Amino acid sequence: MYSSGKICLPIAVVLLAAVGGLAGATEPGSFGYGSVATPAQIAGWDIDVRGEDGTGLPPGKSTVDRGADVYAEQCAACHGTFGEGEGRFPKLVGGVGSLRDERPEPTVGSYWPFAPTLWDYINRAMPMSAPHTLSADDVYALTAYILSLNDLVPHDFVADRNSLPKVKMRNRDNFIWTDPRPDTMAKPCMNACVDAADVRISSTAEGRDLTPRTTGPLDTMQPK
Ligand code: HEC
Repeated sequence: MYSSGKICLPIAVVLLAAVGGLAGATEPGSFGYGSVATPAQIAGWDIDVRGEDGTGLPPGKSTVDRGADVYAEQCAACHGTFGEGEGRFPKLVGGVGSLRDERPEPTVGSYWPFAPTLWDYINRAMPMSAPHTLSADDVYALTAYILSLNDLVPHDFVADRNSLPKVKMRNRDNFIWTDPRPDTMAKPCMNACVDAADVRISSTAEGRDLTPRTTGPLDTMQPK
């Protein structure tokens, strides 16, 4: 033990020298490890598409017919030839008018508010066993096909970055876009956030017998 401590010392010096040399090569303000992501690496992650206006949709386009072919090959086994869903895999069509039922059926046709979101979802997540393997054109084709299965676009529809945001989805107007809860509207604040004069306690739980008076096993916590 004693001697191994001695042997370690020169190694530590060499290590420090190596780390020092590396640190000299890093960007100012960095932590001294890793490397700056290349534009190509960032592009690989930066794939989000905004639902409402389709921001982020890439160039490319395709048709309902092409979509039917790709779909038959890559999607029908799980989602059914016409989107009816095999077994317990999700349906991609139907459920229109069911959203207020006891058993609502949310699908692309009945529930989804934006067509670009369909492009985004297929592009990032499908086919389930091999996501990120479809070309942009084939994702446009599949989007066109699924929209057409849902009677949301005509058979000659061509999906691209301009046409998808214009598709009027059935449930579009039933989403609430401004969330009025105070915690989502509040501006971030770190000090003097509330004027104490404005704070008024309007009610308390005191005396209402809401809190068990004993702690311990459940049976001793029941109100007597
Ligand atoms: C191996 C089975 C499988 C295959 C193949 C498959 N999917 Fe899926 N898909 C799923 C499952 C499971 C889900 C539900 C995932 C979840 O909710 O997390 C899903 C969800 C979806 C949804 C969202 C449905 C909704 O309303 O929430 C879409 C759209 C979709 N898939 C499209 C496709 C397309 C297009 C293809 C072909 C390129 C495809 N899927 C291939 C299994 C599959």
